[in-house]
This record gives sequence, structure tokens and C-alpha cells, in this order.
Amino acid sequence: MFMGYHQFTLIFTPQPSLLMKKFVMLHLLVLCFVIFTPATITAQDMGPFIDEQFRNAAAQYKLLDAQVPSDMMPRSFVKETGKVVPSDTRWWTSGFFPGSMLYIYEHTGDGQVLEIAKKRLSIQEKMKHYTGNHDLGFMMYCSFGNAYRLFQDPSVKKTIDTAAMSLITRYRPQIKSIQSWNKNQNFNCPVIIDNMMNLELLLWVTQQGGDPKFREIALNHANATLKNHYRPDHSAFHVLDYDLETGAFKGKNHQGYNDASAWSRGQAWGFYGFTMMYRFEKDKRYLDHARNIIKYLLEHPNMPSDNIPYWDFNAPDIPNALRDASAASVIASGLLELSRYTKGKERKKYVETAKQIILKLGSNAYRAKPGENGGFILMHGVGHLLAKSEVDQPLTYGDYYFLEAMHRYKKWIL
Ligand code: GLY
Repeated sequence: MFMGYHQFTLIFTPQPSLLMKKFVMLHLLVLCFVIFTPATITAQDMGPFIDEQFRNAAAQYKLLDAQVPSDMMPRSFVKETGKVVPSDTRWWTSGFFPGSMLYIYEHTGDGQVLEIAKKRLSIQEKMKHYTGNHDLGFMMYCSFGNAYRLFQDPSVKKTIDTAAMSLITRYRPQIKSIQSWNKNQNFNCPVIIDNMMNLELLLWVTQQGGDPKFREIALNHANATLKNHYRPDHSAFHVLDYDLETGAFKGKNHQGYNDASAWSRGQAWGFYGFTMMYRFEKDKRYLDHARNIIKYLLEHPNMPSDNIPYWDFNAPDIPNALRDASAASVIASGLLELSRYTKGKERKKYVETAKQIILKLGSNAYRAKPGENGGFILMHGVGHLLAKSEVDQPLTYGDYYFLEAMHRYKKWIL
């Protein structure tokens, strides 16, 4: 595109009218912009770039696997101690490691990576019966959903079906929502925006011939989220705390800066979730909502020019606040899906923004040096800043959605 413009400028002969002078000035300005803009990676160059990212991911994740006990999953890494932090399979992030391994296997064909994925899936399988929180989608669909997509093993489908049954035990018909966490000292019946991500599991099971009740619950939950969770500016609360007797609720932020702020990863979950809802339902309300959320995010005065968000859009120390690479990964992957449901300039903007985020995350600014970061791929995620948990650390979900974004770019854009 730039070369074409350059050629056009060279053959252009200016005429001495005022209009023409303005026209020439404008072209000279554009030419200066073209000359002084650093060389960009074209769509074609993205192929080798992504392939190299997956090769790096394979080497890193083998290293990571070697540091985690065989009955646990990796969770994060603490630079100061040089130690990988493992988690029990009950932790909400447990499905991301096997899921990432499957994406890496798909793009490298590395048999050792597949063996690790299978080994980790075998310890995850029992979680299909878990009913302790709403995270069954993250835990069982990001892992076993990818396994089924790749290998269509009927026993894997049964595992996913059972996980969906476990998830709907948390459905509360009075509020037409799935309860996220159990009642605790802070919340009565908390429903968090992250829960939009778990609906994919339910929609998929019905779509594959399962009971229609899974879809009904997913739709009820998404519609209640659309109605109650969003503010007029299209930002979302992290938590709605419901009173099950009256259906009244209070909007709060648990992981965000304060109750009025926009916690970045929460916005990313909602954006990705409503885009996914449109994939299954083709209901324009979901598409429009996803568009409104991304407009809010990309046009936010506190969104940095590289579109890697601060951990909260209202963090008081912006521009010195920490960025959250995991929110950026989720946004990039969601943008690539949204681009499929849009056209023209709008589609181009989504693809270009996703590409920009992928390039930035895959650069030295966010990607760890080989052999470092405990084997995680990305640095600079923010888990729960105010609780001082996983602050400026690698996060399994940051890596997972980064890999997914590149998988989608290769599949849909190249
Ligand atoms: N689902 C919890 C988080 O995004 O940190």
C-alpha cells in the first residue's frame, strides 16, 4: 500500500492553483508520515512471526512443565524467588496449561508437547464434577474443548457434558444468573463479569445435541448481564452482589480499583463473552453490545496508544500504572472474532488492532527471553493488584489467550 502511494506521488506534477497547492501540501505531509513511520509487518509476514512464537512457546512450556508436580498445574512465577507457583486443579486457571499445550501442538506438531497435554488433561478430568465455583468453562472447556476440537474423542465429549451439568448446579432462577462464588464475608450472591466466558461451555453442549436447558441458562445469564452489569458508558462492574430474596443487586469491583472504575480484564472478559454469544446466537443485541464495549475500550482516553491496557482504566497512577498483558491477550483474541462479524473499515480496524497487540506482546517488551520467566511466555500480567496477588507476573490465561489470538490470526486472517 505504501509503495503504491509513493509511486503515485512521484508521477504527480503540481499545478499552480491555490487548491492544487493545498493538495500538494497534503500529499507531502502524508509522504513525510510514510517515510518516518517505522517499517511495519505485513499480513504475509505475520505467518513466520506467529510460527516463531509457537516454536518459542513449545520450548518455554516444556521447561514450565518440568517444574510443576505431576498432580498440579502451573499458575505463575515469582522472579524474586526464581520459583514457579503451582496450583491445585481446583484453582480457576487449571485448564489453561493443557489448553495452551494443545494450541502449541496444533501449530508445531511437537509430539512431546502433545504428551504433556495428555498427561495434564488426565489430572484435570476429575474436575468435571466440581461445583465449588462458576469457572467450569475456563477449567474444562479451554482444556477439553480444545482436545475435542482436535481429536473428536467421544469420551472427551462426555467429560465436557458432565462439566456443563456441574456448572448449572450454580444457576439461580430467581435472578436468571449463575452464581459465581459462594456466599462469603464480602458478598451474598456474587455474579461476576468473568462468568460470560463460562457460557461457551453451555452453548456448545446444546449445539452438539445436548439438552436445550444449557443454552436457556446461558441466554438467561447473558441477558441478565446485559441488563444489570453494564453502566451507561458500556463499562462493566466486576461483581453484582444479588439479594436472592428480592432480586436487588449492588454493583461492586472486587479486583478493580474502586466500585466506579473499569477493571481492564473484566472489560475484556465481557467483550470476548458477548462476541462469543453472537457466534452461537446471531442475536444482534450481543453484536452491538460487543461493538459498544470495544469502542469504549479503544477510544478510552486512558487506553495507551499500543492498546495494552493499564490494569484498571481508572488506576490513580496512570501513566505510571502497571499494564495487564492478560487483558490485552483477551482483547486481541476477541477482536479477531468480532472482525468476522463486521465489514469494511470496521473489520480492518479490529484486525489491525489485534495485530498490533500480538506484535507488541510478542516483542521483547512483553515476551520473556528464552529460558526465563519460569517458562511462561508473557511477562507483566496483573492478577489482583489490591490484594497484592500476582502483580506484574506471568499468568497462564495471559499466555493462553495470546496463543489463541495467534491461532485465530493464522486461521482467519492469513
Ligand atoms: N477470573 C478472575 C480473573 O480474571 O482474575
